[in-house]
Amino acid sequence: MKHRKSRKLHRRGVSTVLKNKCCIILISKSPTDGLGFLLSCGACISHYTRACVKYYNIIMTIAEFQTACDTIAQEYTEKIAHAADLAAVEELRVASLGRKGALTELLKNLKDFSIEDKKTAGPLGNALKAKLTAALDEKTDLLAAKEINEELNKVDLDLTLPGYPVAKGHRHPLSVAQDRMTEILSQLGFEWAEGPWVEDEKHNFDLLNIPLHHPARDAQDTFFVDSKMPLVLRTHTSNVQSRYMEKHKPPLRIMAPGRVFRNDSLDATHSPVFHQIEGLYVDKNVSMADLKSDLTAFMKGLFGNKAEIRFRPSFFPFTEPSVEVDVKCVFCQGKGCNVCKGSGWIEMLGAGVVHPNVLKNCGIDPNEFSGYAFGMGVERLAMMMLNIKDIRTFYENDLRVLKQF
Ligand code: PHE
Repeated sequence: MKHRKSRKLHRRGVSTVLKNKCCIILISKSPTDGLGFLLSCGACISHYTRACVKYYNIIMTIAEFQTACDTIAQEYTEKIAHAADLAAVEELRVASLGRKGALTELLKNLKDFSIEDKKTAGPLGNALKAKLTAALDEKTDLLAAKEINEELNKVDLDLTLPGYPVAKGHRHPLSVAQDRMTEILSQLGFEWAEGPWVEDEKHNFDLLNIPLHHPARDAQDTFFVDSKMPLVLRTHTSNVQSRYMEKHKPPLRIMAPGRVFRNDSLDATHSPVFHQIEGLYVDKNVSMADLKSDLTAFMKGLFGNKAEIRFRPSFFPFTEPSVEVDVKCVFCQGKGCNVCKGSGWIEMLGAGVVHPNVLKNCGIDPNEFSGYAFGMGVERLAMMMLNIKDIRTFYENDLRVLKQF
């Protein structure tokens, strides 16, 4: 295409606007005849048009706008198709869609159109923009892929070699054990419940029938949080009992797994941070018999059909009567070995019938309802399930050990 400066325009002072632009072969006699001179690039047309609008108050017709769109479309699709590298594509992006690009310049005419013409011209402009953007993006992707391939071809790479295997982990044995336990409990009808780790004394102790000066607080020595309210790191999951019963009325049947804290030193069987699962069942006429049958079913689910349990009398302030539940040693089937220290039984959890005071404290009438509760140590059961002898194994994160489970 030939570009020549229009003397006529120059004379009329429009050349300042057209400066540095490739210019127009003027076909019409005067700019007022309209813009029938479209033998130029899109940017020039739009510059020229604006110049005319500015100096002679000429308004582009919709037909001219459409022709200008077509010219820009044709010119830039051709140029984009021939662009040799990414830099060239970027230049064309600026030249067509940039702030001073051909399309942007052309669209400036929109403001002078009637509402009717705007309705036609707007979509035309948008369609052109979409078309150019798509063409530019497509070319960029193509050239980028080409550049990467050229880079790769320079290096001696064997892409057919197999990759390094991705190391595949698995769940921590404690999580595996806890999942198994909660799965069995849910099959027995227990619903999931949770409570906070940092707990007030009221829910951890008071409501559970452990008043401030009760010696049972010594047995569950814990960490006190420095705050205005008396807060502790919960010593057991029994806090979920009090929290749940405050909000829900019987019948209720929940399991509450979670982390608990005690001021114990770490040894083979104790840890200051460990896990429990609380069980609570409150309804009419719930008794020790329900506790025994449910716990037997639970242990059979965990250790197989031969599992047996026994109750030994014990004391917890929040249950009456209270029991320790032993399971027949799964290692020697009750004959006596070093795991069960020759007794044939292993102590597994604490349980009992919910103390009437606890029900009362939580707004449940003990004359109408009764319940049982139990709290079992996840670590202790997991050690039995997985034959782990030292509780510290769970926390040391030694992959050589963890990989075995
Ligand atoms: N909370 C008791 C403990 O941590 C266990 C327990 C729960 C006992 C429920 C009886 C009933 O030792």
